[in-house]
Amino acid sequence: MEKIVHLMKGQAGYDLSGIKNSYIETQVKAFQQKVGANDLNALFNYLKSNPAALTQLTNACLNNATRYFRNPRLFELLRQLYLPALLKQSSVNIWVAACSLGDEAFSLAITIHELLQQTLEPCPAKVHIWATDISAKAIDTAKAGYAIESNLVSVGEAIKQKYFHYKDHRYYVQPAIKNYVEFAVHDLLQPLANAPKFDLIICRNALLYYDIAYQQHLITNLHQHLKPQGIFIISEFESMPANCASLFTKSAEAPYIFTSNL
Ligand SMILES: C[S@@+](CC[C@H](N)C(=O)[O-])C[C@H]1O[C@@H](n2cnc3c(N)ncnc32)[C@H](O)[C@@H]1O
Repeated sequence: MEKIVHLMKGQAGYDLSGIKNSYIETQVKAFQQKVGANDLNALFNYLKSNPAALTQLTNACLNNATRYFRNPRLFELLRQLYLPALLKQSSVNIWVAACSLGDEAFSLAITIHELLQQTLEPCPAKVHIWATDISAKAIDTAKAGYAIESNLVSVGEAIKQKYFHYKDHRYYVQPAIKNYVEFAVHDLLQPLANAPKFDLIICRNALLYYDIAYQQHLITNLHQHLKPQGIFIISEFESMPANCASLFTKSAEAPYIFTSNL
């Protein structure tokens, strides 16, 4: 198993060793069955001579599953409680970390765009959403700005009509929404030089694949880029590691929304 993880690291250029062994093992065994390799040694030899298969396995280990308005209650809380206050500023900086195919960043952009359309402010806030993922393949898809129907199950018909263009079985998000978002490849376990401070950082459904020490490292990295009192959001399936708890105050509204203490 270690040899296979090492092979993936060599090809992809990033370190998967922080991902929970149990998760990697499940993916590798499923892949072994899929390609009909007798054992892990046979799979190792197969992967060594088949870069496309190695890429496929690496992608499976990163799990790019996402969808628009995942956990609709979070978007409702953002719309009602958090974004109106942020949008009173002249500029708002948001980081969607581990954004996968872009659905989460575009959901946020749609929510913000709707709020800005209703605002009576004479000079509406300038909003920039920086969305990053370790997977270059996911970022390429995100930049293309399309989703398949199953990723839009939580999108109401009116929003679908207003912000998407359907072509060849794909839903393309409108340029007005795309323009809020800048995508980039970034490994959250690596330091980030020269980044601005963010008003809001969302990092959902990536932490849960990592061992606790890596979760702490990743959250500490992200926390450094939050403004004082900045908002930090994880998913409803994740929890704040005990060692990081003093950095944040948990919100009264939801256990996965925090504000920075510093
Ligand atoms: C299950 S998806 C979650 C996508 C989105 N945040 C959501 O909740 O719908 C997990 C994403 O985390 C990304 N990821 C995993 N480890 C990462 C790391 N160290 N740095 C950046 N992204 C990472 C994966 O590539 C994958 O796209």
